[in-house]
Amino acid sequence: MPGRRILLVVGGGIAAYKCLELIRRGRERGLTFRCVTTRAAEQFVTPLALESLSGHRVWRDLFALGEEAEMGHIRLSRDADLVVVAPATADLLAKMANGHADDLASTLLLATDKPVLAAPAMNPRMWEHPATRRNVAQLRTDGVAFVGPEPGELACGEQGFGRMAEPQAILEAIEALLAPRAKPLAGVRALVTSGPTHEPIDPVRYLANRSSGRQGHAIAAALAEAGAEVELVTGPVALADPPGVRTEHVETAREMLERCLDALPVDVAVCAAAVCDWRPARTAASKLKKEEGCPPPVLELEENPDILRTLATHPRSRPRLVIGFAAETGDVLAMARSKLARKNCDWILANDVSPGSGVFGGERNRILWLRRDGTIEAWPELDKLEVGRRLAKLIAEELGGARA
Ligand SMILES: Cc1cc2nc3c(=O)[nH]c(=O)nc-3n(C[C@H](O)[C@H](O)[C@H](O)COP(=O)(O)O)c2cc1C
Repeated sequence: MPGRRILLVVGGGIAAYKCLELIRRGRERGLTFRCVTTRAAEQFVTPLALESLSGHRVWRDLFALGEEAEMGHIRLSRDADLVVVAPATADLLAKMANGHADDLASTLLLATDKPVLAAPAMNPRMWEHPATRRNVAQLRTDGVAFVGPEPGELACGEQGFGRMAEPQAILEAIEALLAPRAKPLAGVRALVTSGPTHEPIDPVRYLANRSSGRQGHAIAAALAEAGAEVELVTGPVALADPPGVRTEHVETAREMLERCLDALPVDVAVCAAAVCDWRPARTAASKLKKEEGCPPPVLELEENPDILRTLATHPRSRPRLVIGFAAETGDVLAMARSKLARKNCDWILANDVSPGSGVFGGERNRILWLRRDGTIEAWPELDKLEVGRRLAKLIAEELGGARA
């Protein structure tokens, strides 16, 4: 990686000392480092040591006048190829997840337009705390990459996940992020659906399901990363639109179908949305009222359009590859096989969404991949973005790099 520039934000944790080794080994591989310290970081590692090893002055203060005449914090954040936060303290992760900008480190993390890699390090309880879990999930959604933490014994004497990744592992993560990514799907047009649908009962109530949209959004992001031109049609979700993806927001199954048909022709369609099978037969124009002495209203349902089947049987514009999801409880394989046949699609990615599986809303997924030719492959449990990347690779192989 000769000549690639790393902006290293050092946080206030014991593991800050490992940054010295990171810089030393990184420079041997041709990386250059500019270091920024938080106030707390300087309790653990001296600016002099960072300066000596990096060969550059260390940036410490947002309000250093000389630099601010040239908007030093903005320039610093843009002049790098990659921003690395190590150790990423619980405090820094919270600031990043919430967009704080009250010191030099947090301000440039908010101002940067470059990829960010975080190497968390903290006490295991801090790492497992719901607040940190929320912050990490948010940062992943925002596109921040993570390396570690690792399990083991910590400086505080406790055991568990919280040790910062070793400098070697951080360097490998840096190199993976900086490596030019192959674009095996360049020239391929992809349609992805994601999230639940909301089917209105009246102006304030709706039928829905527990889908978070994380898997569909991660697939859209992975296909775009692989060079595809991606249109994402999503139901209501609490997620940011994936970068580089044209995103259409809809509420109901019928709206989702309409947008999908508008998107045709495409080379590949991935239907990851959890579309409601039914909708209320009638939507009340005003809020249904609970009346004293009256029985509860009876909800009559009617069937929603089957988006996967409609795309897979389209008479003129069937995508060359139609991929469905089967979120099932019980005998997942049998249900996925039957869905593959019924819907006329090419592949099914099946997953078990039984209570406790943690798939709906979680960060990871365990997939059974079924093809029409009878092939079945069980994937290991993977981060949802990794599921998307694996799928992108298979799609590229299947389409043989052919262009529309
Ligand atoms: C001895 C000691 C070790 C600490 N180690 C960590 C740590 O490994 N991870 C962490 O998140 N916080 C750690 N803290 C707490 C942080 O230093 C503290 O939250 C600080 O405000 C973080 O500031 P920063 O995020 O701006 O660097 C430690 C504190 C002390 C006193």
